[in-house]
Amino acid sequence: MRQEWFDTARFGLFVHFGAYSGAARHEWVQAYERLTDAEYLPYARHFEPDRFDAAAIAATAVATGMGYSVLTTKHHDGFCLWDSELTDFSSSTACGRDLVAEHVEATRAAGLKVGLYYSLIDWHHPDFTVDWNHPRRDDSGAHALNDGRSMERYRAYLHGQVRELLTRYGTIDYLFFDFTYPETKQGWAGKAAEDWDAEGLMALCRELQPDMLVNDRLGVPGDFVTPEQYQPTKPILEAGSPVVWEACQTTNGSWGYHRDNVDFKSAPLLIRMLADSVSMGGNMLLNVGPDGRGAIPPADLALLGEIGDWMELHRDAIVGAGHASYTPPREGVYTLRGDRLHLHLFSWPLGFVHLPGLAGKASYARFLHDGSWLRTSVTDPDQTANVMRPAGEEAGTLTVSLPVRRPDVAVPVIELTLA
Ligand code: GLC
Repeated sequence: MRQEWFDTARFGLFVHFGAYSGAARHEWVQAYERLTDAEYLPYARHFEPDRFDAAAIAATAVATGMGYSVLTTKHHDGFCLWDSELTDFSSSTACGRDLVAEHVEATRAAGLKVGLYYSLIDWHHPDFTVDWNHPRRDDSGAHALNDGRSMERYRAYLHGQVRELLTRYGTIDYLFFDFTYPETKQGWAGKAAEDWDAEGLMALCRELQPDMLVNDRLGVPGDFVTPEQYQPTKPILEAGSPVVWEACQTTNGSWGYHRDNVDFKSAPLLIRMLADSVSMGGNMLLNVGPDGRGAIPPADLALLGEIGDWMELHRDAIVGAGHASYTPPREGVYTLRGDRLHLHLFSWPLGFVHLPGLAGKASYARFLHDGSWLRTSVTDPDQTANVMRPAGEEAGTLTVSLPVRRPDVAVPVIELTLA
């Protein structure tokens, strides 16, 4: 099955890098500030990624416990990170480098699955029609800007670029298209599946890379769905069956490098989000935004380092793990891997944690980080035997005794071996 590696990996790296990285104020800067082409061009001209080191990025992903890495080949600004024959608005013009080639090679060499992101939206292309997301939307007489623009010609460009990406670099494991927004706002149309010829594009993907996973943002169903900057609250189902999903998350709310935004999530929060995703049968794709020179910023690197330290000890509770059908206690979430049930403790209880329905189901309990055994006991419904029954716990509850002092790891995990 196409998504098997993906379901196993659970954790990937997203890399947003482009001309906007030098602007350093969000990857949507051109649209947010309604910059003209002339105003935006300097960022592309001065694209000088002397510190972009694909091998170092791949090594960082590996050290963080990730199984795949996804690079923005082109974002909404239209600036391409490869040597496209269809445009000279690219890294090869700016600095003579094909960063997609560098990414694919380094990622594959590191043993990671290779992912590409490609923006369907293109604010640079003269045929891409102005809509409510476009930098030109508030120009006077903006609607007239669409006279002479042709989505049909843009479609040919789009399909041609995707063909380049899927034929030049060998096996591509994952493709993230971005995005479709069919509503009409402020008198503008959005962009729908027909604008991309989504069916045709999907067929092209299947033809050129039959095993590649494709996401759900083309406007037609894909191989997985992509909650963005929020966490679902339960496994995602369609007609009663679990859907493959991946939450994509930022470290500070911005995907592209945003120098003055210091609204960073903490490493423990990101780890909880990862465990939370896996507990609901999903993946987490965590983003970093290399700076204007292509280096992963220190704050992002520090977070990945802390997450990597945790992953080193808790890998088995994430990689190859998934949803467990038991109801977790209020302190945390479960992930299940084979016969191992992992309780990720998001808060630290006093003395005990009570696991409903697990009496008689687990033969051994220990902390995952240090393998230290944990005493368990079972609630006795008749209270005849000499076993503990904390007030209010139901029969069938397994109680795990805990030290008063919380272990010094970002998220403590109790591993239960199921009988
Ligand atoms: C979005 C944003 C974007 C980001 C992406 C990641 O739709 O437009 O900037 O690249 O999602 O999921």
